[in-house]
Amino acid sequence: MNRPTTSGRFITFEGIDGAGKSTQIAALVEALRGRGLNVLCTREPGGTEPGEKLREVLLGMEMHVDTEAMLMFAARREHLAAVIEPALAAGNWVVCDRFTDATYAYQVGGRGLDAARCDALEAWVHPHIRPDLTLLFDLPPALAAARIEANGTNPDRFEQERRGFFERVRAAYLERARREPGRFHVIDAAREPHEITREIASVLSKRSWL
Ligand code: TYD
Repeated sequence: MNRPTTSGRFITFEGIDGAGKSTQIAALVEALRGRGLNVLCTREPGGTEPGEKLREVLLGMEMHVDTEAMLMFAARREHLAAVIEPALAAGNWVVCDRFTDATYAYQVGGRGLDAARCDALEAWVHPHIRPDLTLLFDLPPALAAARIEANGTNPDRFEQERRGFFERVRAAYLERARREPGRFHVIDAAREPHEITREIASVLSKRSWL
């Protein structure tokens, strides 16, 4: 994909459920907008009308893992075509709550989907696009589960998974981060929110983005 020279960046947030991404996404978007940048804030699965319908199905209904992976990528295809690619092409910044790393972590790592199937879907849906930066919120699943419970909201079917599932998801995320240290920044998400906000600002300023 051709990006204009005054290019925005594609930043994704990842981590197990309950890692505290939402607060930090809001803080980063506010900081970037405060610098006068055009920022699109979006999420997966979702971000488009058909994508949000697919999200309802994905979060609400039991299904075969192949179906789950294909629907994640179907929503992603629409999201890229209708939202992400046009924004990046216009030089805007895109901050996205989860992207393809989540499919590798949850469907491949968590559910045991063959990684080759995920590779094939990725090669079909976005052979040329990768996030410029992925912030991985890492914390022990027990702590994440306690946070979800404290939130008091009804857990979706992913949040209802057992501890072992999230151990596998976490391990898969960390393995991807180990393989692509230039793209990933791993955040110790057990710390206080204000410390994490400061760390994210420093990651961006080290790259001369802020
Ligand atoms: P998220 O938006 O983080 O959930 P919430 O709004 O409840 O905090 O993500 C929705 C769920 O979808 C989350 O449990 C992870 C899962 N997911 C996958 O399993 N695979 C994927 O490719 C994506 C994008 C999400």
